[in-house]
Amino acid sequence: MTAPVLPIRALAGHVGAEVTVRGWVVRSRRKGKIAFLVLRDGSGLCQAVASVRDVDEATFALMDGIDQETAVEVTGTVRADPRAPGGVELGLRRLVVAGPSGGYPITPKEHGIEFLLDHRHLHLRHRRPWAILRIRHEVEQACRDFMYERDFVLIDSPILTPAACEGTSTLFETDYFGSPAYLSQSGQLYLEPAAMAHDRVYCFGPTFRAEKSKTRRHLTEFWMLEPELTWTDLDGLMALAEELVSYVVARVLDRRAEELAVLERDTARLEAVCPPFPRMSYDEAARILTAPESVAKAKAQNAPPFRPGDDLGAADETILGEAHDRPLMIHRYPADVKAFYMEPDPDDPTRALCVDVIAPEGYGEIIGGSMRIHDADLLARRIREHGLPEDAFRWYLDIRRWGGVPHGGFGMGLERVVAWICGVHHLREVIPYPRTIQRIYP
Ligand code: 4AD
Ligand code: MG
Repeated sequence: MTAPVLPIRALAGHVGAEVTVRGWVVRSRRKGKIAFLVLRDGSGLCQAVASVRDVDEATFALMDGIDQETAVEVTGTVRADPRAPGGVELGLRRLVVAGPSGGYPITPKEHGIEFLLDHRHLHLRHRRPWAILRIRHEVEQACRDFMYERDFVLIDSPILTPAACEGTSTLFETDYFGSPAYLSQSGQLYLEPAAMAHDRVYCFGPTFRAEKSKTRRHLTEFWMLEPELTWTDLDGLMALAEELVSYVVARVLDRRAEELAVLERDTARLEAVCPPFPRMSYDEAARILTAPESVAKAKAQNAPPFRPGDDLGAADETILGEAHDRPLMIHRYPADVKAFYMEPDPDDPTRALCVDVIAPEGYGEIIGGSMRIHDADLLARRIREHGLPEDAFRWYLDIRRWGGVPHGGFGMGLERVVAWICGVHHLREVIPYPRTIQRIYP
């Protein structure tokens, strides 16, 4: 009888059986007459062991000093071993090399992050990126499940667009058969018309910004989840945002404990994330940021001083966020630091009906959203004031001409959320192939 092929994760359920594992050699070591292999497959790690007495001479010689990342098929008996990862080890009897290796560049010694990113195509196999990308996968699935359960219809927005959504300074321009076109900065403008057809819609895809800033929070290609809904108000958007974020965090805690442990994430910080999130107006935030303690903190971080009326900088967000154990929602920013499409607050038209959600622990803005202007004339004026080409926005104005209703939505930056949940410092580690101002390889 041939031994069944099992994923490493399943071995614990087969103590005593002879099985085959297909994977890669993480490391090998020999102690006198016993050779050890640490093996990896998609599901986890295990150790295979053989003494010179258990296997023929050729197999023992093969095990001894086998190259890192050799692909192998290993057959042996599963033995309980409480000290081993997963509580089992494999008593090796047969070893077949499926894909040889040699001179693998990512050795067990410490490597710099740039070296690892240059070898991202290989580094994906290692423990830390393995854990991070599985958490990212869980976050994406949780987002889709959340939207589906709440009857949001998925509307895929275009990547090639004729106009800017989030300001003209970060546009990637390309030649579209003789006319300029831009990579999408956000699917929002295309969701608004679809919301008039389905009430609640969302898109979830890559977005692009030619960010010249070289910070740990900025990628030039990042993913955004964007819900858009009709007949809502700013409180409705904030309630949706806190439910979404809490749902996603709870899902990762529930299903990705092993990955969080690999990353040594302090999960107590994540357990605290549940509604209600604290809410604060921009004006309250400005009062806190101009108080002497905050001024001193900003100075200690070498950050530019905050002046009322300014948009919040990274240091300002950190100062405000660190006072709370869950994400902080800041609403009603000055209209003139925000995008052209934001609805003014009827109580104070210098303020926009908008909200930014700031993650705890210094991860900054994870969500930005607002109510949208639904008056066609006001919107046309804003487009002109922002120096945007009116012609490219004709269709966008149309949805206000025929049955405009109060509507709004937000965008959640996937990498910001994943970095925060993982406790990873820089966004470049939480996307499979990061694109930044200095990197488009591999
Ligand atoms: O605040 P932003 O610019 O909002 C929009 O694009 C709206 N049109 C979304 C909407 O209302 N449908 O971006 C939304 C989020 C930010 O809160 C941040 O989390 C993330 O996208 N983000 C970035 N993430 C990584 N790298 C960048 N360069 C990012 N820029 C924004
Ligand atoms: Mg924003």
